[in-house]
Amino acid sequence: MKAKNIERVLVTGGMGFIGSHTVDMLVEKGYEVRILDNLEPQVHGPEERLPEYRNKNAEFIEGDVRDRETLIQAIKDVEAVVHLAAAVGVGQSMYQIDKYVAYNTWGTANLLDVLVNEPNDIKKLVVASSQSIYGEGKYLCEHCGPVYPRLRAEEHFRNREWEPRCPSCGKPLKPLPTDEDKPLMPTSIYAQTKRHQEEMCLLIGKTYGIPTVALRYFNVYGPRQSLSNPYTGVCAVFSCRILNNKPPYVFEDGKQMRDFVHVRDVARANVLALERDGADYMAINIGSGEPTSIRELAEVLVKLYGAKITPYISNKYRKGDIRHCYADLTRAEKYLGYQPEIKREEGLKELAEWAKAHGWAAMDLFENTIEELETKKLIY
Ligand SMILES: NC(=O)c1ccc[n+]([C@@H]2O[C@H](COP(=O)([O-])OP(=O)(O)OC[C@H]3O[C@@H](n4cnc5c(N)ncnc54)[C@H](O)[C@@H]3O)[C@@H](O)[C@H]2O)c1
Ligand SMILES: [Zn+2]
Repeated sequence: MKAKNIERVLVTGGMGFIGSHTVDMLVEKGYEVRILDNLEPQVHGPEERLPEYRNKNAEFIEGDVRDRETLIQAIKDVEAVVHLAAAVGVGQSMYQIDKYVAYNTWGTANLLDVLVNEPNDIKKLVVASSQSIYGEGKYLCEHCGPVYPRLRAEEHFRNREWEPRCPSCGKPLKPLPTDEDKPLMPTSIYAQTKRHQEEMCLLIGKTYGIPTVALRYFNVYGPRQSLSNPYTGVCAVFSCRILNNKPPYVFEDGKQMRDFVHVRDVARANVLALERDGADYMAINIGSGEPTSIRELAEVLVKLYGAKITPYISNKYRKGDIRHCYADLTRAEKYLGYQPEIKREEGLKELAEWAKAHGWAAMDLFENTIEELETKKLIY
């Protein structure tokens, strides 16, 4: 069943990884879909080629969310916007500060300005937020109860002590699922811009009565993930290394935990947010709810690719990295009826099969990024 009052949807960033799956699902459900995307070279290659997976039943406007005139054209005759266009890369955002703020913060400001000041018929705005805005996840101290530690202090790393400690009593902590009430503590420019996008959209949405939902995606993986963009997506980065017969490079001791959610589950959450009103004006976690250690991820992927490689445990710390964060999905289920459907093993197998078939395109640029991070003293 489609949403009431919504026939036509604009998906910004609709040529990208999450965007293209969202577009497919919307087209499949009978919506008329328009894509606005600038075919960012870091994602689509230097020739800015249209991806072969693009949905030919969607209209395409090639353009930038920073361009007001383009946005005015793009929102004409649509009733909903799924805003996914963004620069995506945590490490890179720490030295391409103006780019991240321009694409993400200013691009979103531009969209909101157009929605508020130009004639339009928008009845729903869904914006991509991110788990990164939490910083460290939520933890339990057996003496103090639930706690929200800040980024680990640098002196700990000198002794390769990776686990955060209780901010009040200094005792060891147990990670808990992170819920939406956890105070936001972004630890990168990327995360700050995602927070900004989320908060600006919710504020303007509320002020002008435009039902708005911010979805805080956790680590999204799956087919169409850019294999040659070394700045984003640990599943893609590891896949690329393995396909080039090199060991996945694991920071710290590899026991840090993340939440890996399949891209089709995320696309489904976008559609749910569009069609249901239960989560209007809210920020909602979208993940798998299941913690996975990075070391385990590396091992599972090596096995799935049938490689004879042992992951490289670097025992190095990348500045700004958190230790553990995985989603509490109580609200996603309650307000959106969202539950993840794709199991990790099944999803990673699909990723590996897809990556093998497309591996020819994957250049391993990872060593350059490590060099870049080392030169900028962002790893030690
Ligand atoms: N992939 C993840 O794990 C993850 C996690 C949390 C949040 N997100 C968010 O989800 C959204 C989509 O991410 P993705 O993983 O699909 O990334 P992606 O890079 O595959 O897709 C982004 C798309 O936006 C386009 N784009 C970038 N800047 C643009 C601009 N200025 N104007 C117009 N188009 C532009 C790109 O060309 C690309 O097609 C982003 O907002 C990202 O911050 C992603
Ligand atoms: Zn304590």
